[in-house]
Amino acid sequence: MTNEQAAQLSGQYLMPTYAQLPVAFVRGAGARLWDADGKEYLDFVAGIAVLGPGHCHPKVVAAICEQAHRIMHTSNLYDIPQQGLLAKKLAELSCADRAFFCNSGAEANEAAIKLARKWAGIHREDNCRSIITAEMSFHGRTMLTVTATGQEKYRAPFAPLPAGFEYVPFGDIGALEAAIDETICAVMLEPIQAEGGINVPAPGYLPQVRELCDKHNMLLIFDEVQTGMGRTGEWFGYMDEGAEPDIFTLAKSLGGGFPIGACLAREEVANAFEASNHAATFGGNHLACAAALAAIEAIETEGMVQNAGEVGQYFADAVEALKADYDFLAGVRGRGLLRGLELEGVDGRELQKACLRDGLVVNALGEDLLRIAPPLNITRAEIDEGLAIIVRAGEGMAG
Ligand SMILES: Cc1ncc(COP(=O)(O)O)c(C=O)c1O
Repeated sequence: MTNEQAAQLSGQYLMPTYAQLPVAFVRGAGARLWDADGKEYLDFVAGIAVLGPGHCHPKVVAAICEQAHRIMHTSNLYDIPQQGLLAKKLAELSCADRAFFCNSGAEANEAAIKLARKWAGIHREDNCRSIITAEMSFHGRTMLTVTATGQEKYRAPFAPLPAGFEYVPFGDIGALEAAIDETICAVMLEPIQAEGGINVPAPGYLPQVRELCDKHNMLLIFDEVQTGMGRTGEWFGYMDEGAEPDIFTLAKSLGGGFPIGACLAREEVANAFEASNHAATFGGNHLACAAALAAIEAIETEGMVQNAGEVGQYFADAVEALKADYDFLAGVRGRGLLRGLELEGVDGRELQKACLRDGLVVNALGEDLLRIAPPLNITRAEIDEGLAIIVRAGEGMAG
């Protein structure tokens, strides 16, 4: 099948939920992709922060194959050994004590919101069930998580929406404090807003949010779906300033490319759930957990968290140096290997297309920002190679 034939099939038979670019990737290895016509690409997107250990990491592939031959799935009505091992590993790596496994980021956030409300039913007043989230946040596409998402454009077409959410500007501690009353049981934030524009809060904001939550007996929920699993140069985004959440969520990179999500919590909060309060048929099955355990082992033994921090800084320094020579490069924000490349005078969506034409996969976050989220083991040489493509394509467009 060619790229064109793949596009024809998608165009005819899929619901038009994605504005797809006309390329069908059919093979991947590390930070490289190949399309159906045989063209090679360097991947600065990694499935949007999903392929932490890179495409088809040998450890992840071997674990999936081995597990698939043995047993893939049983109901959560029975113990699943890999699930216990994965929960233990995540507890060792983080501030959490217990995990619930599901299949995606939205599902993980649904679990977090349900858990917070269940906890509030036990520890707070009857009318205390609302959650504050941030403007420009992104928490998913289910009815509950799209409502938690602080972006009107995603919510508006799907009204009526579930009740119980309030939105405050991200990074504004005064606005958050002013929004707190007896109805608020939790605050839910991304440590760095990803889809909303790679927005890093000012130093001190997250610890201040933690203090407010403690003062008002509210839970702090971090959505680490995009920032988790080493992407920011720490295992989890909250670790940069040590503001520990009561609940946090993972998905994307957790399975090294295999679908799995997780909601993690401190003991006292996690124990608000009782049997049959929450469930997911496929959540944490043998195959998904085997993939996640292998992905974590790869990330840990191959030093990818440290690499994300160091190579991410190398990327930021390189962009700052290039800025002087190229007017269309306005700056860089983010942390580790979750970066926003700020543009001036060229349209990000057009630049994304030009890069794709020239063999580099990047992701436009609107008109003036490219999201850079490559595999965590990307090298400095690959960063140089990708930046050279961006510079050539951007210069061509700027005229
Ligand atoms: C921070 C964050 N939360 C939640 C989600 C939703 O994850 P999923 O698409 O796996 O449901 C995303 C997806 O981009 C995300 O970036």
